[in-house]
Amino acid sequence: MEFDAVVVGSGIAGSVTAYYLAKQGYQVVLLDKSEDSSESNTYQAQGGISYQGEKDSIELRFQDIMSAGAGISNPDAVSIVAEQGPKLIEEILINEFNVDFSRKGDGSLDFTDEGAHSVRRILHSFDTTGRSIQIAANAALKKQKNVTFLYDHTAVDIITWHHHSSDKHRMYKPLTALGVYALDNNTKKVEKILSKIVVLASGGMGRIYLHTTNPISATGDGYAMAARAGARLVNMEFTQFHPTTLFHPKGNNFLISESVRGEGAVITDTHGRPFMHKYHEKKDLAPRDIVTRAILSELLESGEKFVLLDLSPIGRNNIAARFPNIYKTCLELGIDITETPIPIVPAFHFSCGGVMSDIQGRTNIERLFAAGEVACTGLHGANRLASTSLLEAMVFGKIISDYTIKNKDTYFNFKFPEVRDWIDTGIINIIDPALIKQDWTYLQNIMWNYVGPVRSKKRLQRALIDLRNLQEDIENFYRDAKMDRKMVELRNAIQTGVLVAEHSWANRESLGAHYRID
Ligand code: SIN
Repeated sequence: MEFDAVVVGSGIAGSVTAYYLAKQGYQVVLLDKSEDSSESNTYQAQGGISYQGEKDSIELRFQDIMSAGAGISNPDAVSIVAEQGPKLIEEILINEFNVDFSRKGDGSLDFTDEGAHSVRRILHSFDTTGRSIQIAANAALKKQKNVTFLYDHTAVDIITWHHHSSDKHRMYKPLTALGVYALDNNTKKVEKILSKIVVLASGGMGRIYLHTTNPISATGDGYAMAARAGARLVNMEFTQFHPTTLFHPKGNNFLISESVRGEGAVITDTHGRPFMHKYHEKKDLAPRDIVTRAILSELLESGEKFVLLDLSPIGRNNIAARFPNIYKTCLELGIDITETPIPIVPAFHFSCGGVMSDIQGRTNIERLFAAGEVACTGLHGANRLASTSLLEAMVFGKIISDYTIKNKDTYFNFKFPEVRDWIDTGIINIIDPALIKQDWTYLQNIMWNYVGPVRSKKRLQRALIDLRNLQEDIENFYRDAKMDRKMVELRNAIQTGVLVAEHSWANRESLGAHYRID
Protein backbone atom coordinates (compact mmCIF):
# COMPACT_ATOMS: atom_id res chain seq x y z
CA MET A 1 0.00 0.00 0.00
CA GLU A 2 1.33 3.43 -0.92
CA PHE A 3 -0.18 6.77 0.07
CA ASP A 4 0.64 10.45 0.16
CA ALA A 5 -0.09 10.59 3.88
CA VAL A 6 -0.70 8.07 6.62
CA VAL A 7 -2.44 9.55 9.62
CA VAL A 8 -2.21 7.49 12.80
CA GLY A 9 -5.26 8.24 14.93
CA SER A 10 -8.72 9.47 14.03
CA GLY A 11 -9.41 12.02 16.78
CA ILE A 12 -9.66 15.71 15.95
CA ALA A 13 -5.95 16.18 15.10
CA GLY A 14 -5.89 13.27 12.66
CA SER A 15 -9.32 14.06 11.22
CA VAL A 16 -8.52 17.70 10.45
CA THR A 17 -5.17 16.85 8.83
CA ALA A 18 -6.68 14.05 6.77
CA TYR A 19 -9.66 16.15 5.71
CA TYR A 20 -7.68 19.07 4.32
CA LEU A 21 -5.08 16.90 2.58
CA ALA A 22 -7.79 14.79 0.96
CA LYS A 23 -9.69 17.90 -0.08
CA GLN A 24 -6.65 18.97 -2.08
CA GLY A 25 -6.55 15.62 -3.84
CA TYR A 26 -3.91 13.81 -1.79
CA GLN A 27 -4.39 10.13 -1.03
CA VAL A 28 -4.69 9.71 2.72
CA VAL A 29 -5.03 6.62 4.88
CA LEU A 30 -6.51 7.10 8.33
CA LEU A 31 -5.47 4.41 10.73
CA ASP A 32 -7.25 3.58 13.96
CA LYS A 33 -6.63 0.56 16.16
CA SER A 34 -10.26 0.57 17.33
CA GLU A 35 -13.43 -0.45 15.51
CA ASP A 36 -14.49 3.18 15.18
CA SER A 37 -13.51 6.63 16.48
CA SER A 38 -15.46 6.40 19.72
CA GLU A 39 -12.42 5.19 21.68
CA SER A 40 -10.55 8.44 21.03
CA ASN A 41 -9.86 11.05 23.70
CA THR A 42 -11.58 13.54 21.41
CA TYR A 43 -14.83 11.57 21.47
CA GLN A 44 -14.74 11.48 25.29
CA ALA A 45 -13.98 15.18 25.78
CA GLN A 46 -16.69 16.88 27.78
CA GLY A 47 -16.02 20.50 28.69
CA GLY A 48 -15.39 22.31 25.45
CA ILE A 49 -13.04 24.17 23.18
CA SER A 50 -11.61 27.56 24.01
CA TYR A 51 -12.84 30.24 21.55
CA GLN A 52 -13.20 33.99 22.14
CA GLY A 53 -15.49 35.53 24.68
CA GLU A 54 -16.86 39.01 25.11
CA LYS A 55 -14.16 41.49 26.21
CA ASP A 56 -11.61 38.91 25.13
CA SER A 57 -8.40 39.59 23.20
CA ILE A 58 -5.39 37.81 21.71
CA GLU A 59 -3.28 39.20 24.57
CA LEU A 60 -5.66 37.86 27.21
CA ARG A 61 -5.74 34.40 25.64
CA PHE A 62 -1.95 34.47 25.37
CA GLN A 63 -1.60 35.40 29.04
CA ASP A 64 -4.04 32.77 30.26
CA ILE A 65 -2.28 29.94 28.40
CA MET A 66 1.16 31.16 29.50
CA SER A 67 0.18 31.51 33.12
CA ALA A 68 -1.52 28.07 33.33
CA GLY A 69 1.65 26.67 31.70
CA ALA A 70 3.68 28.08 34.62
CA GLY A 71 5.54 30.42 32.27
CA ILE A 72 7.40 27.77 30.28
CA SER A 73 4.99 27.44 27.36
CA ASN A 74 6.51 28.02 23.93
CA PRO A 75 5.50 31.64 23.16
CA ASP A 76 5.47 30.97 19.41
CA ALA A 77 2.96 28.13 19.74
CA VAL A 78 0.88 30.16 22.22
CA SER A 79 0.76 33.16 19.85
CA ILE A 80 -0.42 30.99 16.98
CA VAL A 81 -3.21 29.44 19.03
CA ALA A 82 -4.25 32.72 20.68
CA GLU A 83 -4.37 34.49 17.32
CA GLN A 84 -5.64 31.83 14.91
CA GLY A 85 -7.72 29.61 17.21
CA PRO A 86 -11.06 31.46 17.01
CA LYS A 87 -10.82 31.99 13.23
CA LEU A 88 -10.05 28.30 12.66
CA ILE A 89 -12.90 27.18 14.92
CA GLU A 90 -15.24 29.18 12.71
CA GLU A 91 -13.68 27.98 9.47
CA ILE A 92 -13.30 24.30 10.32
CA LEU A 93 -15.70 23.33 13.08
CA ILE A 94 -18.60 25.70 12.48
CA ASN A 95 -18.57 26.23 8.70
CA GLU A 96 -16.91 23.10 7.31
CA PHE A 97 -17.87 20.35 9.80
CA ASN A 98 -21.11 21.95 11.08
CA VAL A 99 -20.51 21.02 14.71
CA ASP A 100 -23.62 21.34 16.78
CA PHE A 101 -22.40 23.73 19.53
CA SER A 102 -24.83 24.72 22.27
CA ARG A 103 -26.58 28.01 21.62
CA LYS A 104 -28.56 30.45 23.72
CA GLY A 105 -32.28 31.15 23.19
CA ASP A 106 -31.43 33.94 20.72
CA GLY A 107 -29.35 31.55 18.59
CA SER A 108 -25.97 32.98 19.59
CA LEU A 109 -23.21 30.64 20.75
CA ASP A 110 -23.28 29.76 24.44
CA PHE A 111 -20.02 30.13 26.39
CA THR A 112 -19.01 28.32 29.52
CA ASP A 113 -16.13 28.86 31.95
CA GLU A 114 -13.35 26.65 33.25
CA GLY A 115 -10.32 26.96 35.52
CA ALA A 116 -7.80 29.78 34.95
CA HIS A 117 -9.68 31.48 32.08
CA SER A 118 -10.06 35.26 32.51
CA VAL A 119 -13.38 35.41 30.63
CA ARG A 120 -16.16 33.02 29.64
CA ARG A 121 -14.97 31.88 26.24
CA ILE A 122 -15.48 28.12 25.98
CA LEU A 123 -17.72 26.69 23.31
CA HIS A 124 -19.45 23.46 24.23
CA SER A 125 -22.04 21.03 23.10
CA PHE A 126 -23.77 20.42 26.42
CA ASP A 127 -21.32 18.11 28.27
CA THR A 128 -20.37 15.95 25.27
CA THR A 129 -18.47 18.45 23.16
CA GLY A 130 -15.89 15.96 21.91
CA ARG A 131 -18.56 13.54 20.76
CA SER A 132 -20.28 16.26 18.71
CA ILE A 133 -16.97 17.27 17.13
CA GLN A 134 -15.98 13.69 16.34
CA ILE A 135 -19.33 12.81 14.79
CA ALA A 136 -19.27 15.96 12.64
CA ALA A 137 -15.64 15.36 11.59
CA ASN A 138 -16.38 11.75 10.64
CA ALA A 139 -19.35 12.82 8.53
CA ALA A 140 -17.18 15.37 6.71
CA LEU A 141 -14.38 12.85 6.18
CA LYS A 142 -16.73 10.21 4.82
CA LYS A 143 -17.59 12.62 2.00
CA GLN A 144 -13.94 12.82 0.93
CA LYS A 145 -13.21 10.20 -1.68
CA ASN A 146 -9.44 10.36 -1.16
CA VAL A 147 -9.57 9.03 2.39
CA THR A 148 -9.09 5.32 3.05
CA PHE A 149 -10.23 4.28 6.53
CA LEU A 150 -8.32 1.46 8.15
CA TYR A 151 -10.09 0.81 11.43
CA ASP A 152 -9.04 -2.16 13.54
CA HIS A 153 -5.45 -1.60 12.44
CA THR A 154 -2.82 -1.10 15.14
CA ALA A 155 0.27 0.85 14.14
CA VAL A 156 3.25 -1.21 15.30
CA ASP A 157 6.23 0.86 14.21
CA ILE A 158 7.08 3.88 12.11
CA ILE A 159 8.94 2.71 9.01
CA THR A 160 12.19 4.63 8.70
CA TRP A 161 14.84 4.79 6.03
CA HIS A 162 17.58 4.18 8.60
CA HIS A 163 15.91 1.13 10.15
CA HIS A 164 13.87 -0.57 7.48
CA SER A 165 15.07 0.22 3.98
CA SER A 166 17.12 -2.29 2.02
CA ASP A 167 19.58 0.50 1.20
CA LYS A 168 22.94 -0.78 2.41
CA HIS A 169 24.01 2.76 3.24
CA ARG A 170 20.82 3.42 5.17
CA MET A 171 22.61 4.17 8.47
CA TYR A 172 24.17 7.28 6.94
CA LYS A 173 20.82 8.73 5.85
CA PRO A 174 19.08 11.43 7.85
CA LEU A 175 16.29 10.10 10.10
CA THR A 176 13.37 9.83 7.67
CA ALA A 177 9.88 8.37 8.10
CA LEU A 178 8.50 6.34 5.20
CA GLY A 179 5.22 4.97 6.53
CA VAL A 180 4.09 2.54 9.20
CA TYR A 181 3.89 -1.17 9.81
CA ALA A 182 0.33 -1.83 10.91
CA LEU A 183 -1.24 -4.92 12.41
CA ASP A 184 -4.59 -5.99 11.06
CA ASN A 185 -6.26 -6.86 14.38
CA ASN A 186 -8.41 -9.51 12.73
CA THR A 187 -6.02 -11.37 10.45
CA LYS A 188 -3.04 -10.71 12.81
CA LYS A 189 -0.90 -9.92 9.77
CA VAL A 190 1.41 -6.90 9.82
CA GLU A 191 1.07 -4.80 6.68
CA LYS A 192 3.59 -2.41 5.19
CA ILE A 193 2.02 0.99 4.52
CA LEU A 194 4.37 3.30 2.67
CA SER A 195 3.61 6.96 2.83
CA LYS A 196 5.27 10.20 1.78
CA ILE A 197 4.45 11.81 5.10
CA VAL A 198 3.52 10.24 8.43
CA VAL A 199 1.27 12.18 10.80
CA LEU A 200 1.21 10.92 14.37
CA ALA A 201 -2.10 11.87 15.93
CA SER A 202 -2.38 8.88 18.19
CA GLY A 203 -3.58 10.60 21.38
CA GLY A 204 -2.35 10.12 24.90
CA MET A 205 -1.17 7.69 27.53
CA GLY A 206 -3.65 7.83 30.44
CA ARG A 207 -4.04 4.08 30.73
CA ILE A 208 -0.50 3.70 32.06
CA TYR A 209 -1.94 5.14 35.30
CA LEU A 210 -4.16 3.29 37.74
CA HIS A 211 -6.64 6.15 37.81
CA THR A 212 -7.37 8.02 34.60
CA THR A 213 -10.14 9.77 32.73
CA ASN A 214 -8.79 8.41 29.43
CA PRO A 215 -10.43 5.75 27.23
CA ILE A 216 -8.92 2.27 26.88
CA SER A 217 -7.12 3.26 23.68
CA ALA A 218 -4.83 5.75 25.48
CA THR A 219 -1.88 3.38 25.90
CA GLY A 220 0.97 5.69 24.91
CA ASP A 221 1.51 4.11 21.48
CA GLY A 222 2.63 7.24 19.64
CA TYR A 223 5.25 8.25 22.20
CA ALA A 224 6.81 4.79 22.20
CA MET A 225 6.76 4.37 18.41
CA ALA A 226 8.31 7.81 17.94
CA ALA A 227 10.99 7.12 20.55
CA ARG A 228 11.90 3.83 18.86
CA ALA A 229 12.22 5.66 15.53
CA GLY A 230 14.60 8.23 17.07
CA ALA A 231 12.25 11.15 17.74
CA ARG A 232 12.96 13.73 20.39
CA LEU A 233 10.45 13.75 23.24
CA VAL A 234 10.20 16.67 25.67
CA ASN A 235 8.31 17.73 28.81
CA MET A 236 7.16 14.17 29.53
CA GLU A 237 7.21 14.87 33.27
CA PHE A 238 4.31 17.32 32.94
CA THR A 239 1.46 14.87 33.36
CA GLN A 240 -1.76 16.66 34.16
CA PHE A 241 -4.13 15.25 36.77
CA HIS A 242 -7.78 16.28 36.59
CA PRO A 243 -9.09 17.15 40.04
CA THR A 244 -12.67 16.00 39.61
CA THR A 245 -13.37 12.43 38.58
CA LEU A 246 -16.10 10.25 40.00
CA PHE A 247 -15.19 8.20 43.07
CA HIS A 248 -17.26 5.05 42.77
CA PRO A 249 -16.25 1.36 42.52
CA LYS A 250 -17.99 1.12 39.17
CA GLY A 251 -17.34 4.71 38.08
CA ASN A 252 -14.10 4.07 36.16
CA ASN A 253 -12.92 7.60 37.04
CA PHE A 254 -15.66 9.09 34.92
CA LEU A 255 -14.78 12.75 34.31
CA ILE A 256 -16.85 15.39 36.02
CA SER A 257 -16.13 18.26 33.68
CA GLU A 258 -14.43 21.39 34.93
CA SER A 259 -17.27 23.31 33.33
CA VAL A 260 -19.43 22.05 36.21
CA ARG A 261 -17.31 24.27 38.44
CA GLY A 262 -17.37 26.89 35.68
CA GLU A 263 -21.14 27.02 36.15
CA GLY A 264 -20.82 27.41 39.92
CA ALA A 265 -20.24 24.00 41.58
CA VAL A 266 -18.02 24.01 44.66
CA ILE A 267 -15.56 21.44 46.03
CA THR A 268 -16.05 20.68 49.71
CA ASP A 269 -14.83 18.22 52.29
CA THR A 270 -17.15 15.38 53.31
CA HIS A 271 -18.80 17.69 55.85
CA GLY A 272 -19.76 20.11 53.10
CA ARG A 273 -17.09 22.70 53.95
CA PRO A 274 -15.46 24.47 50.94
CA PHE A 275 -11.67 24.65 51.15
CA MET A 276 -10.31 25.98 47.85
CA HIS A 277 -10.18 29.58 49.20
CA LYS A 278 -7.25 28.39 51.36
CA TYR A 279 -5.20 27.46 48.28
CA HIS A 280 -5.80 30.01 45.49
CA GLU A 281 -7.52 33.33 44.87
CA LYS A 282 -9.50 31.77 42.00
CA LYS A 283 -10.75 29.14 44.44
CA ASP A 284 -12.51 26.28 42.56
CA LEU A 285 -11.38 27.68 39.23
CA ALA A 286 -7.68 27.72 40.04
CA PRO A 287 -5.35 25.87 37.60
CA ARG A 288 -5.81 22.11 37.70
CA ASP A 289 -2.52 21.20 39.32
CA ILE A 290 -3.34 23.49 42.25
CA VAL A 291 -6.85 22.12 42.70
CA THR A 292 -5.52 18.55 42.48
CA ARG A 293 -2.87 19.09 45.13
CA ALA A 294 -5.34 20.94 47.34
CA ILE A 295 -7.66 17.91 47.25
CA LEU A 296 -4.80 15.49 47.95
CA SER A 297 -3.64 17.60 50.83
CA GLU A 298 -7.16 17.70 52.34
CA LEU A 299 -7.45 13.93 51.92
CA LEU A 300 -4.12 13.38 53.64
CA GLU A 301 -5.21 15.55 56.54
CA SER A 302 -8.70 14.07 56.90
CA GLY A 303 -7.85 10.45 56.12
CA GLU A 304 -10.93 10.31 53.87
CA LYS A 305 -10.93 8.64 50.44
CA PHE A 306 -12.76 11.38 48.51
CA VAL A 307 -14.02 14.94 48.66
CA LEU A 308 -17.33 16.25 47.34
CA LEU A 309 -18.48 18.39 44.44
CA ASP A 310 -21.59 20.31 45.37
CA LEU A 311 -23.68 21.25 42.32
CA SER A 312 -26.46 23.00 44.22
CA PRO A 313 -25.25 26.54 43.25
CA ILE A 314 -26.04 25.67 39.60
CA GLY A 315 -29.70 25.39 40.54
CA ARG A 316 -31.50 22.08 40.77
CA ASN A 317 -33.54 22.61 37.64
CA ASN A 318 -30.57 23.51 35.47
CA ILE A 319 -28.29 20.57 36.25
CA ALA A 320 -29.77 17.83 34.06
CA ALA A 321 -30.43 20.22 31.17
CA ARG A 322 -26.89 21.61 31.09
CA PHE A 323 -25.01 18.38 31.99
CA PRO A 324 -27.20 15.56 30.63
CA ASN A 325 -24.41 13.01 30.25
CA ILE A 326 -22.94 13.56 33.72
CA TYR A 327 -26.44 13.51 35.20
CA LYS A 328 -27.35 10.25 33.43
CA THR A 329 -24.04 8.48 34.17
CA CYS A 330 -24.15 9.35 37.87
CA LEU A 331 -27.82 8.40 38.12
CA GLU A 332 -27.08 4.97 36.64
CA LEU A 333 -24.66 4.50 39.53
CA GLY A 334 -27.26 5.57 42.07
CA ILE A 335 -26.16 9.21 42.52
CA ASP A 336 -28.81 11.82 41.78
CA ILE A 337 -26.64 14.90 41.34
CA THR A 338 -29.63 17.21 41.58
CA GLU A 339 -30.04 16.00 45.17
CA THR A 340 -26.59 15.03 46.44
CA PRO A 341 -23.00 16.12 45.92
CA ILE A 342 -20.70 13.96 43.80
CA PRO A 343 -17.85 12.07 45.50
CA ILE A 344 -14.68 12.96 43.57
CA VAL A 345 -10.94 12.22 43.41
CA PRO A 346 -8.16 13.35 41.04
CA ALA A 347 -7.00 11.11 38.18
CA PHE A 348 -4.51 11.30 35.32
CA HIS A 349 -5.96 13.34 32.46
CA PHE A 350 -3.48 14.69 29.90
CA SER A 351 0.17 14.65 28.93
CA CYS A 352 1.50 18.17 28.33
CA GLY A 353 4.73 16.77 26.87
CA GLY A 354 5.29 14.49 23.94
CA VAL A 355 6.99 14.23 20.56
CA MET A 356 8.63 17.58 20.06
CA SER A 357 7.09 19.32 17.08
CA ASP A 358 7.74 22.81 15.80
CA ILE A 359 5.20 25.39 14.75
CA GLN A 360 4.68 23.58 11.43
CA GLY A 361 4.13 20.27 13.24
CA ARG A 362 7.51 18.94 12.09
CA THR A 363 9.51 16.61 14.33
CA ASN A 364 13.25 15.93 14.25
CA ILE A 365 12.53 13.01 11.90
CA GLU A 366 12.09 14.10 8.30
CA ARG A 367 8.57 13.49 6.95
CA LEU A 368 7.27 12.72 10.46
CA PHE A 369 4.74 15.21 11.82
CA ALA A 370 2.89 15.11 15.12
CA ALA A 371 -0.32 16.78 16.30
CA GLY A 372 -2.68 16.57 19.25
CA GLU A 373 -1.85 15.11 22.63
CA VAL A 374 1.04 12.95 21.41
CA ALA A 375 2.83 16.08 20.18
CA CYS A 376 4.57 18.70 22.24
CA THR A 377 4.41 22.07 20.52
CA GLY A 378 5.16 23.57 23.94
CA LEU A 379 1.72 25.20 24.02
CA HIS A 380 0.90 23.73 27.41
CA GLY A 381 4.24 24.30 29.10
CA ALA A 382 4.14 22.72 32.54
CA ASN A 383 0.35 22.59 32.78
CA ARG A 384 -2.43 22.85 30.26
CA LEU A 385 -5.14 25.49 30.36
CA ALA A 386 -8.58 23.84 30.30
CA SER A 387 -10.23 23.36 26.90
CA THR A 388 -7.09 24.00 24.87
CA SER A 389 -6.39 20.38 23.90
CA LEU A 390 -9.04 20.06 21.17
CA LEU A 391 -8.05 23.56 20.09
CA GLU A 392 -4.35 22.75 19.78
CA ALA A 393 -5.09 19.51 17.93
CA MET A 394 -7.34 21.29 15.43
CA VAL A 395 -4.97 24.23 14.87
CA PHE A 396 -1.86 22.09 14.31
CA GLY A 397 -3.73 19.49 12.27
CA LYS A 398 -4.66 22.31 9.90
CA ILE A 399 -1.14 23.76 9.96
CA ILE A 400 0.37 20.39 8.98
CA SER A 401 -1.95 20.04 6.00
CA ASP A 402 -1.37 23.66 4.90
CA TYR A 403 2.39 23.40 5.30
CA THR A 404 2.85 20.14 3.42
CA ILE A 405 0.53 21.26 0.62
CA LYS A 406 2.47 24.53 0.33
CA ASN A 407 5.70 22.53 0.09
CA LYS A 408 4.24 19.80 -2.08
CA ASP A 409 7.39 19.35 -4.17
CA THR A 410 9.38 18.46 -1.08
CA TYR A 411 6.76 16.25 0.47
CA PHE A 412 4.68 14.69 -2.25
CA ASN A 413 7.13 14.49 -5.12
CA PHE A 414 9.09 11.72 -3.49
CA LYS A 415 10.37 8.34 -4.54
CA PHE A 416 10.43 5.63 -1.89
CA PRO A 417 13.57 3.59 -1.37
CA GLU A 418 13.15 -0.18 -1.25
CA VAL A 419 11.62 -1.07 2.11
CA ARG A 420 11.54 -4.55 3.55
CA ASP A 421 8.31 -6.27 4.50
CA TRP A 422 7.57 -6.95 8.15
CA ILE A 423 9.50 -10.02 9.22
CA ASP A 424 6.99 -12.52 10.48
CA THR A 425 8.80 -14.68 13.02
CA GLY A 426 6.23 -17.43 12.58
CA ILE A 427 5.64 -17.50 16.35
CA ILE A 428 2.23 -18.89 17.14
CA ASN A 429 2.29 -18.70 20.96
CA ILE A 430 -1.05 -17.28 21.96
CA ILE A 431 -0.57 -14.70 24.68
CA ASP A 432 -1.67 -15.57 28.17
CA PRO A 433 -4.25 -12.93 29.24
CA ALA A 434 -3.36 -13.44 32.90
CA LEU A 435 0.20 -12.28 32.23
CA ILE A 436 -0.95 -9.26 30.27
CA LYS A 437 -3.36 -8.28 33.03
CA GLN A 438 -0.76 -8.63 35.77
CA ASP A 439 1.79 -6.56 33.85
CA TRP A 440 -0.75 -3.80 33.36
CA THR A 441 -1.69 -3.81 37.04
CA TYR A 442 1.94 -3.62 38.04
CA LEU A 443 2.71 -0.79 35.59
CA GLN A 444 -0.36 1.23 36.59
CA ASN A 445 0.40 0.90 40.30
CA ILE A 446 4.03 1.95 39.87
CA MET A 447 3.01 4.97 37.81
CA TRP A 448 0.26 6.04 40.19
CA ASN A 449 2.19 5.55 43.42
CA TYR A 450 5.67 6.71 42.38
CA VAL A 451 5.17 8.92 39.31
CA GLY A 452 1.81 10.38 40.32
CA PRO A 453 0.65 13.86 41.33
CA VAL A 454 3.29 14.03 44.11
CA ARG A 455 6.85 12.82 43.39
CA SER A 456 10.12 12.46 45.25
CA LYS A 457 13.65 11.25 44.55
CA LYS A 458 13.04 8.00 46.44
CA ARG A 459 9.74 7.27 44.69
CA LEU A 460 11.20 7.97 41.26
CA GLN A 461 14.28 5.89 41.99
CA ARG A 462 12.04 2.96 42.90
CA ALA A 463 9.87 3.57 39.84
CA LEU A 464 12.83 3.48 37.48
CA ILE A 465 14.19 0.24 38.89
CA ASP A 466 10.80 -1.48 38.82
CA LEU A 467 9.80 -0.13 35.42
CA ARG A 468 13.07 -1.11 33.75
CA ASN A 469 12.80 -4.65 35.10
CA LEU A 470 9.24 -4.86 33.92
CA GLN A 471 10.23 -3.46 30.53
CA GLU A 472 12.77 -6.23 30.07
CA ASP A 473 10.18 -8.88 30.93
CA ILE A 474 7.62 -7.36 28.58
CA GLU A 475 10.12 -7.03 25.75
CA ASN A 476 10.92 -10.76 26.04
CA PHE A 477 7.23 -11.54 26.26
CA TYR A 478 6.59 -9.44 23.10
CA ARG A 479 9.31 -11.17 21.10
CA ASP A 480 7.94 -14.55 22.03
CA ALA A 481 4.26 -13.91 21.34
CA LYS A 482 2.00 -13.89 18.34
CA MET A 483 1.30 -10.29 17.20
CA ASP A 484 -1.78 -8.90 18.82
CA ARG A 485 -3.14 -5.41 19.61
CA LYS A 486 -2.95 -6.12 23.35
CA MET A 487 0.69 -7.11 23.16
CA VAL A 488 1.63 -4.08 21.07
CA GLU A 489 -0.16 -1.79 23.53
CA LEU A 490 1.51 -3.31 26.57
CA ARG A 491 4.95 -2.89 25.02
CA ASN A 492 4.20 0.75 24.15
CA ALA A 493 2.74 1.44 27.58
CA ILE A 494 5.79 0.27 29.51
CA GLN A 495 8.09 2.19 27.21
CA THR A 496 6.03 5.35 27.71
CA GLY A 497 6.00 4.78 31.47
CA VAL A 498 9.79 4.61 31.49
CA LEU A 499 9.97 7.86 29.48
CA VAL A 500 7.70 9.68 31.94
CA ALA A 501 9.69 8.37 34.91
CA GLU A 502 13.03 9.29 33.33
CA HIS A 503 11.92 12.83 32.53
CA SER A 504 10.47 13.20 36.03
CA TRP A 505 13.71 11.98 37.56
CA ALA A 506 15.78 14.38 35.48
CA ASN A 507 13.74 17.46 36.41
CA ARG A 508 14.37 18.34 40.05
CA GLU A 509 12.31 21.52 39.94
CA SER A 510 8.65 21.47 40.94
CA LEU A 511 6.70 23.28 38.28
CA GLY A 512 3.07 23.06 37.17
CA ALA A 513 1.95 19.46 36.87
CA HIS A 514 5.37 18.09 37.93
CA TYR A 515 5.47 18.33 41.69
CA ARG A 516 8.35 17.03 43.79
CA ILE A 517 8.08 17.11 47.57
CA ASP A 518 11.86 17.03 47.85
C1 SIN B 1 -13.18 18.97 31.32
O1 SIN B 1 -14.27 18.97 30.78
O2 SIN B 1 -13.02 19.21 32.52
C2 SIN B 1 -11.98 18.63 30.52
C3 SIN B 1 -11.65 19.73 29.63
C4 SIN B 1 -10.20 19.69 29.32
O3 SIN B 1 -9.50 18.75 29.68
O4 SIN B 1 -9.70 20.66 28.76
